[in-house]
Amino acid sequence: MTTPEIVRHADASALYDAAAADVSQLVQAAIAERGICHIALAGGRTPRGLYEVLATDPHIAWDKVIVLFGDERAVPPDDPASNFGMAREALFDRLPIPPTVLRMSGELPAADAARAYDAVVRVAEPLDVVLLGMGDDGHVASFFPGTPEPDADARVIATTSPLPPPSRVSLTLAAIRRSRAILLLVTGAGKAARLAEVWRQIADGAPRLPAARATSESGICRWHVDTAAAAQLPSASEELA
Ligand code: 6PG
Repeated sequence: MTTPEIVRHADASALYDAAAADVSQLVQAAIAERGICHIALAGGRTPRGLYEVLATDPHIAWDKVIVLFGDERAVPPDDPASNFGMAREALFDRLPIPPTVLRMSGELPAADAARAYDAVVRVAEPLDVVLLGMGDDGHVASFFPGTPEPDADARVIATTSPLPPPSRVSLTLAAIRRSRAILLLVTGAGKAARLAEVWRQIADGAPRLPAARATSESGICRWHVDTAAAAQLPSASEELA
């Protein structure tokens, strides 16, 4: 497992700009090397600002991008809680040439949507980029602390969230770890203690929380964090110790 590279930013706005440049470079490199890029988007609130910046990037050939999702709530795409709906508003609808979007079928029962999307991920993997946020409890995608360990071969599972909407569809941590690049985006003081706990688990070689286990097997693993979220992380010099 690779140790995450921590990239600190003054605030969320600076994080969005830098993370968008990071994503743009990774997407362009994938297209240059393989003619196509598979990227899995994160949901929740944090990435919206990143998607809005990405929508203005003139360097991404979106017609060569296949967009997947790291997770989805089991709600229809027009539901305000839909991760697809948020990405459509913040990114897809703002692009002159939209990408191919493979959404998780939130309108179906989660088990059915997971089964169908598992097949999609098997064709698409290894994903070039997986974007993740982190919940206050240390979850990533919709893989929560206490989620039963899935079959080692599973790529996508149905899960239950302690936060509404309860029924979710999520990449497994194993599927996330197979990707070529993982970018974790964390902002706000409210996550500082949990992020430091996640870092400590990784540094001690004892990852337990999902965010500690979502590190790439052999690829890039970068945390884009703002100053508030990074407040309890070791300083840059201590990190290297
Ligand atoms: C979701 C996300 C989830 C999110 C974290 C952080 O469906 O909610 O995929 O994993 O990234 O819960 O959420 P915020 O960005 O809203 O803090």
